[in-house]
Amino acid sequence: MINAAVVGTGNISVSHIQGLLTFPERCKIVALVDIYPEKAEGAKEKYRLEEAQVFDSHEALLASGLKIDLVHVCTPPSSHAQIAVNCMNAGCNVLVEKPMAPSLKECDAMLEAEKKNGVTMGIVAQNRFRNSIYKLKKTVDSGLAGSIRCAHVNSLWWRGHCYYDLWWRGTWEKEGGGPTLNHAVHHIDMINWIQGGLPEEVTSVLANVMHDNSEVEDLSFAALRYKDGSVAEVTSSVVHHGEEQGIVLQCENAKLAAPWSCVAEVTQANGFPVPEHNQELMKELDTFYNSIEDLPYEGHTGEIENVLSALEKGTRPFITGEDGRKTVELITAIYKAGFQKRTVGLPIAEADEYYTMEGILRNAVHFYEKSASVENFAAEDITVGNYK
Ligand SMILES: NC(=O)c1ccc[n+]([C@@H]2O[C@H](COP(=O)([O-])OP(=O)(O)OC[C@H]3O[C@@H](n4cnc5c(N)ncnc54)[C@H](O)[C@@H]3O)[C@@H](O)[C@H]2O)c1
Repeated sequence: MINAAVVGTGNISVSHIQGLLTFPERCKIVALVDIYPEKAEGAKEKYRLEEAQVFDSHEALLASGLKIDLVHVCTPPSSHAQIAVNCMNAGCNVLVEKPMAPSLKECDAMLEAEKKNGVTMGIVAQNRFRNSIYKLKKTVDSGLAGSIRCAHVNSLWWRGHCYYDLWWRGTWEKEGGGPTLNHAVHHIDMINWIQGGLPEEVTSVLANVMHDNSEVEDLSFAALRYKDGSVAEVTSSVVHHGEEQGIVLQCENAKLAAPWSCVAEVTQANGFPVPEHNQELMKELDTFYNSIEDLPYEGHTGEIENVLSALEKGTRPFITGEDGRKTVELITAIYKAGFQKRTVGLPIAEADEYYTMEGILRNAVHFYEKSASVENFAAEDITVGNYK
């Protein structure tokens, strides 16, 4: 039986609590932690977690002597590294919400703590556990469509003006960035996973077009170039009505996309496409995609099940700290390119100013100043993406 603690009992903790409750024979929630302990008490009552003890800090949890196997870090991004490192130093495994941390230096401290203590760290990227994304990846890997030459990544979300009034949002220091870091982190993880690695260079444009109460960008366009000459564009936004999210991959032989669609062209003698497309390949791709079995659990529940299995069997979780770091590295490059208004190379070295949060803060463009700071919103409903 795995004893789990949830640190940070706000919006996303609900997905963690519900995920853990799906496997009552494998884990139990023994602690809930929040700097507003009344929020943890509320979660305890709502989910009838009679056995869970409530703490007002992760330090108090670690000092309590309670046996904890797995800590779910569900706090704002700027606190992930410190909480995760302290928990790993106390011998706990951790599952850290996205983004792993706002800077590469913090990611490396977390990776070092994992190694030093012989514990396991997973990073949340729950959309790899969505049928549409999982099946797209499998179809790309089948090789039927050929290699990816050009990718369009649409991380399109919509958040109202007051979204940035929450105390930790809308500042470079506490939120670490805008949708490029906090929303597109999902799609950037997906494209890194599908591509199997990072691009060599990145250029980007950052803007804030609708949230004049926030320091951070609310929109970015990034162009990526890979070693094999292929390219990708990533749009990260919280200003897109309808949140039409997706990934479109233009491969040598066909276009593959999530939400699922596929088209394959074949040329006539004059270079123009045959009007009826390559029906044979399209049928083959459709058949391949539709023959892939659905995942047993999707989203957070799927990833939590994977982490529980890793702990039970002593294997690595599917989404590791190294994966989380890669995503932060690409995001850091997008910010660096945007702040400096030029194309930048990857990897980002330790000596690079952008390796540390202090360096990022020194260079960050303040689009506006944060104009309000509310402790908590009354409304609790959130959405976690428009994945079909
Ligand atoms: N995976 C996803 O789809 C997804 C969706 C939303 C948010 N998130 C991530 O989850 C994290 C939390 O976001 P949220 O929307 O739940 O925010 P939230 O503000 O609703 O919840 C965070 C909670 O952490 C508490 N907290 C803050 N600092 C703390 C500390 N040092 N120790 C203990 N508790 C502390 C706050 O009081 C709050 O209750 C962020 O990293 C965010 O990016 C992930």
